[in-house]
Amino acid sequence: MTNPELADDIVRSELRDDGILVVTLDNPPVNALGVDVRRGLLAAIEKADAERAVTAVLIVGAGRNFIGGADIREFGKLPQPPSLPEVCNRIEACTKPVVAAIHGAALGGGLEVALAAHYRLAVEGSKLGLPEVTLGLLPGAGGTQRTPRLIGAQAALDLMLSGRHVGAKEARTLGLVDRIGPTGDALADGLAYAQELIAARAPVRRTRDAAGLAERKSSRAAIEAARTETSRKSRDLFSPLKIVDAVQAALEQPFDDGLRHERQLFLQCIDSPQRAGLIHAFFAEREVQKAPETRAAKPRPIASVGVIGGGTMGAGIAVAALDAGLPVTMVERDEASLARGRAHIEKVYDGLVAKGRMSEPAKAAAMSRWTGSTSYDALASIDLVIEAVFEDLDVKKAVFAELDRVCKPGAILATNTSYLDIDAIAASVSRPADVIGLHFFSPANIMKLLEVVVPAQVGADVVASAFELAKKLRKVPVRAGVCDGFIGNRVLAVYRAAADHMMEDGASPYQIDRAVREFGFPMGPFQVADLAGGDIGWAARKRRAAARDPEARYVQIADRLCERGWFGQKTGRGFYLYPEGARTGTPDPEVEAIVDAERARAGITPRAFTDDEIIRRYMAAMINEGANVVHEGIALRPLDVDVTFLYGYGFPRHRGGPMKYADTVGLANVLADIRAFAKEDPRFWRPSPLIVELVERGADFASLNHTS
Ligand code: 3HC
Ligand code: NAI
Repeated sequence: MTNPELADDIVRSELRDDGILVVTLDNPPVNALGVDVRRGLLAAIEKADAERAVTAVLIVGAGRNFIGGADIREFGKLPQPPSLPEVCNRIEACTKPVVAAIHGAALGGGLEVALAAHYRLAVEGSKLGLPEVTLGLLPGAGGTQRTPRLIGAQAALDLMLSGRHVGAKEARTLGLVDRIGPTGDALADGLAYAQELIAARAPVRRTRDAAGLAERKSSRAAIEAARTETSRKSRDLFSPLKIVDAVQAALEQPFDDGLRHERQLFLQCIDSPQRAGLIHAFFAEREVQKAPETRAAKPRPIASVGVIGGGTMGAGIAVAALDAGLPVTMVERDEASLARGRAHIEKVYDGLVAKGRMSEPAKAAAMSRWTGSTSYDALASIDLVIEAVFEDLDVKKAVFAELDRVCKPGAILATNTSYLDIDAIAASVSRPADVIGLHFFSPANIMKLLEVVVPAQVGADVVASAFELAKKLRKVPVRAGVCDGFIGNRVLAVYRAAADHMMEDGASPYQIDRAVREFGFPMGPFQVADLAGGDIGWAARKRRAAARDPEARYVQIADRLCERGWFGQKTGRGFYLYPEGARTGTPDPEVEAIVDAERARAGITPRAFTDDEIIRRYMAAMINEGANVVHEGIALRPLDVDVTFLYGYGFPRHRGGPMKYADTVGLANVLADIRAFAKEDPRFWRPSPLIVELVERGADFASLNHTS
């Protein structure tokens, strides 16, 4: 229900002596266009038309933004009038000049409101864009019809298909806005602009009548080029081609028909599961930031970072910290390793310079923040130290003993271990409250995920500091508990085992990889193994061999490859062949022969798998272990598992993550699959108690996500 008083407050209209009706949207945090805002805006325009004293209208946003877009939380619920397209049409139809003065975000529906106004300005620091595509949508309040009329088909398609934001200057160049506000104060600049327009008796100027599509031939060519490119690049996605269709309608149909067409396409997008998946991802990646410790404690300041180890991870972590403007002190075993560590970092920057994405002076500035040492004493005054040495508990404990000795009181001591027991590492020092896991993903300067692994004794302020650090490094932090592999690698081990079982039972690794790619992952599990290097997993398997349940199924195919020295890309062959350093592999008949031999050795008669069955097993394994991780409190909520897989494991974003996907296909169906698979291998396929409980209650994973 709407509270009219509240609505009054959310959209305030003030008629000034100079005849300008200032309409201020005040709907924190981003002035999203919820039903109250739409009603308020509509009423304000009615008032402007009805009152003679009004000579012009100025629309501004209160707070940090103009308008962040439609209210995403309303999608999927019963629509409440007036619709946003109606509001935009009413603004455009206003008989008095309407000016939009933009600061901060004018995104999606926010930009569409501005496009419906008759004149627009933006101040420096504005972000304009039509990012609906990132949510599985298209601009549905006239954006697909007005934008190409205003700035031409090609520029409009680029904005809508990329979803990118443009600043005030580029918006001015594109013709999205008429001017850049000279003072930077949107209200003051907007008022000055409106006064000028009144003085010049400027007419209303409707975007629907703009001539951006007049050059029909080039518009048609732009649309066709966009269609070809989109079919190739976004083949898994639903909304991008609908955007192209909508722009075609803008070219071919009168404005009002085009709007109707846009509406139909928009509703199709709203109904698509991709919209639900992408919007889930949008909220989930914000929700993960709100770990309980971030509310309970104040972060410690982190103005300097130490990194132990300059290998693959140490170098990547150092780059991430340098890029965030932090000074980094790297400690290595000896001068040669230190020089290699520095060279790893320089190589990253040289790559960027070569591609023109970094200037030489910027590289020099980043490198000037780096210092190296072979002595731990160099870390005496550092605020946060991240250890990235060999994956060996004794080696790590020795490093932590050194840190305990040299680091100042209050320094945060972090480990980047992938699997090891961080509680044990913490227990080995005199200050366990300062010890935390910061699990970066390779390449650490690029991958967005940061698992913040929270051991039993760590201080809440240390956890809060880790979340603050993630923000600085532009990482997406997910809180995880201590266990073998934390959230991501623990779940990975299980679905990788499911893939191994299928391989031994009759599916080729190439079919499995293809099916997984078709599902939307960039790579299948065997391609991933080849990329990461088979030796790492092999070492882990050998380490765990003694502890393995002798009754549990163990597929030896990967061991057979490793015994031959086939570790993947770095050795030129693994599950695939990589002739002459090729980065994409080709299927290897010798691997197929080894797989056949292993099947025979295990006494298995191979059977055929459909791609659908492969995905059902692969996903059921992932979902079941994801549920265990939530059940045990290793992940706070299902959405934390989703974000882990979206940002660390290439899970297709439009499916929202494994737990969201489970809800989409129905948890009862997933459970039925697990129970059916358990008939063959009850040890491996043990339904998670959490799934059983949710299915019994008729509930889904989403019901566990609303904790904040
Ligand atoms: N609807 C509802 N809530 C929104 C929202 C929206 N459009 N945009 C942001 N929020 C919420 C966030 O969920 C967050 O909530 P929380 O505090 O409870 O976690 C809060 O607002 C603040 O958001 P951010 O943390 O992202 O704040 P920032 O200051 O970092 O960024 C922003 C602000 C640039 C506006 C960013 O929030 C953003 O990109 N928002 C989405 C923009 C967008 O995609 N708009 C298009 C919507 S679809 C549409 O308009 C359809 C139309 O064509 C019909
Ligand atoms: P790496 O072998 O590339 O680098 C390790 C570095 O540590 C080497 O340069 C070595 O000289 C140095 N080192 C070893 N002992 C040292 C000591 N006592 N003092 C100072 N330096 C020492 O290993 P990588 O891949 O960088 O892994 C490091 C850690 O990160 C491991 O714990 C690993 O499990 C973890 N990790 C690895 C990921 C990966 O994809 N490679 C992903 C996430 C975590």
